[in-house]
Amino acid sequence: MTGPLKAKLEILSDPETMARRVAEWMIELANAKDGTFAVCLSGGSTPQLFYEHLAEPPYRGRFPWARTHWFWGDERFVPHNDALSNYRMVRVALLSHAPIPATNIHPIPTEGLGPDAAASAYEDELKSFYGAERLDPARPLFDVNLLGLGSDGHTASLFPGNAVLAERDKWVSAVIGAKPEARITLTYPALESSRNAAFLIAGDEKRPIFKRLRRGDDSLPAARLHPTGRLWTFADAAANG
Ligand code: 6PG
Repeated sequence: MTGPLKAKLEILSDPETMARRVAEWMIELANAKDGTFAVCLSGGSTPQLFYEHLAEPPYRGRFPWARTHWFWGDERFVPHNDALSNYRMVRVALLSHAPIPATNIHPIPTEGLGPDAAASAYEDELKSFYGAERLDPARPLFDVNLLGLGSDGHTASLFPGNAVLAERDKWVSAVIGAKPEARITLTYPALESSRNAAFLIAGDEKRPIFKRLRRGDDSLPAARLHPTGRLWTFADAAANG
């Protein structure tokens, strides 16, 4: 055990209220900073409602779209128009509704190359954006990193018992065999290089795993993520039972 989760915890009454709260939180962080704002997006279903709200009034008009860059914390290695694609989910929920310059969108490549090459290409893209080969704790890669929590305690595609959990040099790795489809995931060093990291957790099916996360059960990959900046947790009442 690493001790109770050291996160600023907010419990919201329902998914809709949580989505609106996270939108306000993100707008506040973005507008508190000048220049480029870098967001690492989570896949899965939980963040979709938030993505949809951010692109709609009253939030849309208050967000600095032109200077925000969008990255993914992990991806299913499927075509970007596949129903499993995290890129597709974000495109449908957010990207296709907001005034985002195409050059600010940085999808993980999944077509025309293999998983290892995709991981390497994305690592190159992250390093090019960051402007250095090594992460400096004093200069995080992301301003915000949004994270989900799987029912097995995974986050991004850092699954329990997988060798990728021990990867401390690469920024991006391919994960083969943990799921039917290959995954591309940022590793702990890259996911932790963020001024703010936030778990978004909703639904009563997450109750047991959220309880273990809050207790600091470090058998869970999610519990072993220690961002260089602030850790936040937004959960709905159903998950917090
Ligand atoms: C993915 C996500 C993954 C997700 C969790 C929670 O590619 O699926 O990155 O880490 O956040 O599995 O998913 P739900 O929000 O759908 O419960």
